[in-house]
Amino acid sequence: MSITILGIESSCDDTSAAVIRDGVLMSNVIASQAVHESFGGVVPELASRAHQQNIVPVVSEAIKRSGLKKEEISAVAFTRGPGLMGSLLVGNSFAKGFALSQSIPLIDVNHLQAHVLAHFIKDEPNQDTAPKYPFLCLLVSGGNSQIIKVEAYNKMQVIGQTIDDAAGEAFDKCAKVMGLGYPGGPIIDKMAKEGDSKKFIFNKPHIPELNYSFSGLKTSFLYLLRDELAKDADFIEKNKFDLAASLQSTIVDILMDKLRKAVKQTGIKEVAVAGGVSANSAVREAFIKHSEKYGWKIHLPKFSYTTDNAAMVAITGYYKYIDGEFCDINAPSFSRVEI
Ligand code: KG4
Repeated sequence: MSITILGIESSCDDTSAAVIRDGVLMSNVIASQAVHESFGGVVPELASRAHQQNIVPVVSEAIKRSGLKKEEISAVAFTRGPGLMGSLLVGNSFAKGFALSQSIPLIDVNHLQAHVLAHFIKDEPNQDTAPKYPFLCLLVSGGNSQIIKVEAYNKMQVIGQTIDDAAGEAFDKCAKVMGLGYPGGPIIDKMAKEGDSKKFIFNKPHIPELNYSFSGLKTSFLYLLRDELAKDADFIEKNKFDLAASLQSTIVDILMDKLRKAVKQTGIKEVAVAGGVSANSAVREAFIKHSEKYGWKIHLPKFSYTTDNAAMVAITGYYKYIDGEFCDINAPSFSRVEI
């Protein structure tokens, strides 16, 4: 008998619902929240209110687009954490209501684990593109920069992570000081294509082992702007493309240096990337270059699975369903939780 999972994601500012049947994606609906743009970042209170407005139409649409009836859903999986508490509670409460009304099991999903497992979503039944265990996954988003050793869908070990800011935060904060919009990552990515990546040199961190740090880079970027703006008030406007290209290439270098070290230490050459920053074109180019130069077998996610989405929640729920890993109806959300 088929296993059909309804996935629900509401950890930050995207309300998403997806249906996966036997590992194959049937639908994935995402409602992004434009309300945060004018604030230059996500406003938690506004995010949870928008989730409240979006959740019913988004789930209805996901079920409609799947071509299935809600009675055919075997279980509902929801993001339990990490994330913004008010946002998480909307998905959590909705999932519980849905599970109770349909008399089906409830499955809690770790958002970070789900980002990694996005690589296992199939577009068609015979697709065989998923990474083979064990593999390394660079998880880079607005809140996380981690290197994860993945031995099974439920056996993941963080072997390196940021000690301060995440890579996405470095993109977003630097874009903000340049007066660009939010989120800054995609804007920097676009502008970097027109710029010289060697024009400006920024500090790179010297952090032990496989850990990352991006706060020093942010400060280095800020100090350069401060010093140059004191000499020329139009400095940013005149140099915006080169600033974007130099910043982006520094972030990518920092990410890849530690990833190379992780491959060397573990001997694992199967390497994936996940999270919002995995949409970045320079990150993707660096992965392709590393596969050519060092023989890595690389896995780049589809663009629709890079940012937050419920398809990754549903695929995680699918594997947990097979193992009978259900959660209690009283399960609270967690704003912070390890993989
Ligand atoms: O995974 P995600 O949607 O949300 C979480 O943080 O959980 O990641 C969002 C982050 C933001 O920092 C955004 O600027 C970044 O991903 N991002 C990018 C690109 N697209 C999204 N950063 C660099 N280049 C991109 N093309």
